[in-house]
Amino acid sequence: MSRTTIVDDALAGLRLSALRDAATPPAAFRAHARALGALLAREALRDLPAREVEVQGPLGPATGRVPAAGVVAVPVLRAGLGLLPGVHDLVPDASVGMIGLERDEETLLARRYYCNVPPVDGAWVLLLEPMLATGGSAADALDQFELTRAAAVSVLSVVATQQAIDHLGTRHPDVDVVTAAVDPGLDGQGFIVPGLGDFGDRVHATP
Ligand code: URA
Repeated sequence: MSRTTIVDDALAGLRLSALRDAATPPAAFRAHARALGALLAREALRDLPAREVEVQGPLGPATGRVPAAGVVAVPVLRAGLGLLPGVHDLVPDASVGMIGLERDEETLLARRYYCNVPPVDGAWVLLLEPMLATGGSAADALDQFELTRAAAVSVLSVVATQQAIDHLGTRHPDVDVVTAAVDPGLDGQGFIVPGLGDFGDRVHATP
């Protein structure tokens, strides 16, 4: 049964408010997306197993804890790339897969144009899809994995709709959603309202 977690504490709110602000320029938008990506990943990886390691400190040996499972981050191109630096801030060794989906502006359906995903056996998979509008492209992206081989799979989103969460829950019931907000719905062009506009355009500074 999929679980949805809304990360809406003050620190996530600070970042999301800046991302929603139409006056936030691309460099600041990227920085806020990175920081929010880390907060979302922190939530998704809360139960990541750990193992103990011995380190030699200046005053003697100390016992530390490090991840005991691999993490695979899969940004859905191109918007998902905006969350990737934040994931790497937390998990520097995370492997990266890429899935390219583009939206047909008339049908609003996703078309896959690129897919390069590493093995996910035993890994904690984070699919990075900042805007979960219908949930269709995230569900299509998840179809590319051998999901049953992964230890856990979460979709990291900045803004989602309930419709998208429900769609994902139907097509991928074992996948969790971690999002900073659930907005009321979509406009006639498939944009989340109020949302934050086109995440890909804003993070990549394209018109
Ligand atoms: N993709 C975006 O970038 N924004 C939306 O509101 C919906 C899909």
